[in-house]
Amino acid sequence: MSNTIAVGIQWGDEGKGKIVDLLTPEVDIVARFQGGPNAGHTLVIGDKKTVLNHIPSGVLHDDTLCLIGNGTVVDPFRLVEEMDMLIAAGIPVAERLKISDRCQLILPYHRALDAAREAAKGEGKIGTTGKGIGPCYEDKTARRGIRLVDLTSPDLDARIDANLEYVNFMLTQYLNAAPVNRADVEVALDLAKARLLPLAADVPLILQKRIKAGDSVLYEGAQGSMLDVDHGTYPFVTSSNTVAGAALAGLGVGPGQVDAVLGICKAYTTRVGSGPFPTELYNAEGMCDAENAGKHMAEKGQEFGATTGRPRRTGWFDAPVVQHAVRINGVTGLAITKLDVLDGLAEVKLCVAYELDGVRLESMPSCCHQLDKLVPVYESMPGWSESTFGATSFDQIPERAKALLRRIEEVCECPVRMLSTGPDRDHIIHL
Ligand code: GDP
Ligand code: IMO
Ligand code: MG
Repeated sequence: MSNTIAVGIQWGDEGKGKIVDLLTPEVDIVARFQGGPNAGHTLVIGDKKTVLNHIPSGVLHDDTLCLIGNGTVVDPFRLVEEMDMLIAAGIPVAERLKISDRCQLILPYHRALDAAREAAKGEGKIGTTGKGIGPCYEDKTARRGIRLVDLTSPDLDARIDANLEYVNFMLTQYLNAAPVNRADVEVALDLAKARLLPLAADVPLILQKRIKAGDSVLYEGAQGSMLDVDHGTYPFVTSSNTVAGAALAGLGVGPGQVDAVLGICKAYTTRVGSGPFPTELYNAEGMCDAENAGKHMAEKGQEFGATTGRPRRTGWFDAPVVQHAVRINGVTGLAITKLDVLDGLAEVKLCVAYELDGVRLESMPSCCHQLDKLVPVYESMPGWSESTFGATSFDQIPERAKALLRRIEEVCECPVRMLSTGPDRDHIIHL
């Protein structure tokens, strides 16, 4: 396989973990370039389910090098917990994993700030995963972040003191929350020194050498394009660039080292947390469509967050979202997941455009207030009663499901290259 960037192109949870895991035997290296423990990537092999937050989804395979790039944010407690979970399952993770020494560390005060800010926002909250992602990326940009390499720096203590003074002022004086103890921060730093520093590496150097020697790389995105801090439904987004372009800056490689961009999306749409969702049908707050299609997707798709366990909101496939994502990522092929979840619906719908105040739009508006008012323009197609679950050949797919896929290709102007028909690694059709 060529060097490919695999990204989610809706609001996250498109099945990136599954797709990356199954493509891993075709590459030599799998590399994460942004995000942190807000990600929850699920791998299912037989009756064994593994959920990964930081570690690339190639880690279950022998002979694959896994890299965590400088563009990510790493929580020492969570990453060590994840490593120990894999070690307990017999995976020699320390032999397979290298972490960029330029990674930013998520420290206890980032989680405290995340929680206090969300609490202060009340109804207007973003609905973050509570993992400290926003405050950590904020410190990076403000140039007060602590990186893995800084653990050996002579001014570490002074920088922690300065950060704590600032953070505890914000927490106690502005956000009405409890301060963070230095001792708790030190436990995190000590853990990172003991368990993460031995895996620290110059990731761009490794990539340059390996690519030069002919090795191929699968770049694994987290979140999805609509959660991108620039291109998503701002401010209801995460705090990093999630699009394919971020793979370059987030690992330290050049554009010449990428051959293809695989856009991963569900055959319908889901979202966790607050913010606009034009084709939404169903949510935990009581929204439900008359046909119960949204409830069908939530239940049959088992739509609960892999990281937080929160119920996901569900709705029809939104082609303008995918068109936008194809554009901003340069997607060269689509991987459509969870087709099997639509089995048994009498009718399936596809949003092909939006109307705003009675006017048909050509593309996604950038403004949240406009996004909230969009009226989806739907095309209706007949559903299918046959099961596609676990199908491994395109011949097993009913004609009506094929018609949906053809229409998606047409409207999104992008070919479907992979079709996922169940959670297992083997439930896949290559097209
Ligand atoms: P990620 O964050 O993009 O890796 O996706 P998640 O792991 O958060 O969520 C995707 C969920 O759907 C997981 O529970 C997967 O096991 C499951 N899944 C992935 N592909 C399929 C599929 O084709 N069909 C079904 N039924 N489940 C799938
Ligand atoms: P994967 O990689 C789905 C959402 C949160 C919230 C917003 C900001 O598994 O697809 P954050 O904690 O990042 O500051 O939260 O982004 N979010 C995700 N939604 N899948 C994810 O990751 C997500 N990571 C963050 O729900 O709305
Ligand atoms: Mg997920």
